[in-house]
Amino acid sequence: MGEEVARFEEEFARYFGMRHGVMANSGSSANLIAVAALFYKKDRPLQRGDEVIVPAISWSTTFHPLQQYGLKLRFVDVELDTLNIDVSKLERALTPRTRMIVVVSILGNPAALDIIQEFARQHDLYLFEDNCESMDAEVAGRKTGTFGHVNTFSFFFSHHISTMEGGIVLTDDEELSHLLRSIRAHGWTRDLPAGSSLFERRSSDHLEAYRFILPGYNVRPMELSGAIGREQLRKLPAMTAERRRNLALFQRLFGGDDRFILQRENGKSSCFSFTIILNPAHNEDLDAVFTALNNADVGFRMITGGCFLRHDVIKYYDYEVVDGGVPNAELAHDRGFFVGNSPQDLSPQIHRLHEVLDRACRKKKL
Ligand SMILES: Cc1ncc(COP(=O)(O)O)c(C=O)c1O
Repeated sequence: MGEEVARFEEEFARYFGMRHGVMANSGSSANLIAVAALFYKKDRPLQRGDEVIVPAISWSTTFHPLQQYGLKLRFVDVELDTLNIDVSKLERALTPRTRMIVVVSILGNPAALDIIQEFARQHDLYLFEDNCESMDAEVAGRKTGTFGHVNTFSFFFSHHISTMEGGIVLTDDEELSHLLRSIRAHGWTRDLPAGSSLFERRSSDHLEAYRFILPGYNVRPMELSGAIGREQLRKLPAMTAERRRNLALFQRLFGGDDRFILQRENGKSSCFSFTIILNPAHNEDLDAVFTALNNADVGFRMITGGCFLRHDVIKYYDYEVVDGGVPNAELAHDRGFFVGNSPQDLSPQIHRLHEVLDRACRKKKL
């Protein structure tokens, strides 16, 4: 990690209009150090046993650092049409122990970030934006990944830009940026600027060279990833535009057809994927549809990680489910899938996807 990573951090933060960027070796690591940093703030640090409001659908490593730091999760269902957290349930998710909301914009589609930010402000909660799936999306006139106290992104191979593996945390808070830099690399002071409020420099260079102040990790990115990231970032606006052109065709072919529940765009999606839930009202045989997709050689997969509550790992978590259930997340888990988008003209592929699904899901009169 050297000059290229440092430049990439600056350029990436500038693109998003944020003050600080701290790159890590994956989006998962970005989530881990972002949660950790909130535990070491001077004022109002998170503490074990605090509660955090989370959506029922996201990737596993949105949740794991919360569990690892001893937080209690309160799961809120998603909206069926956006697949993002249902903001009408936030009040009911709140308890006197709530300290943070984790919000995720699923598969390119912005969550109601402006509403959630206001809710967090009113109730004095940390807002953690896991934006690993929605780089360059916009809502309420701003880019996603800029609403939180901490905001994370992934540069994994299949995401909007790729450094092969990689991730970053953006924040406007200087103290958090220093905590992130220390926790990213061994918990030492070496990567902190002179005058950092986290520690006072003493006179011995020998001792200062290896001075540990926080329980950190080593999740540094490689210099090569920083260099690739800088080139990728230059291409991002054009790549997002290509993705959105594909989205427009997908919406034209599939929209208004009640066999398919699509993601209703909130703001401007950066369209990670083409996301479909088979409408249960049509009672289509899921296996038959999946077989048709497989036979046509169309790749598809579960929506993000599906409903997190359905995974075995949940037995290790301290959690509650707001309103006692998450029917929309369950439905997305059981009858949903996505087909990947990419920054090139996919018109033939999208037409073919439509042909295959149209044939597999014969129209029925309801
Ligand atoms: C919402 C979300 N958070 C975190 C991650 C983890 O990112 P990474 O694969 O770079 O570790 C992903 C990965 O796809 C994700 O979708």
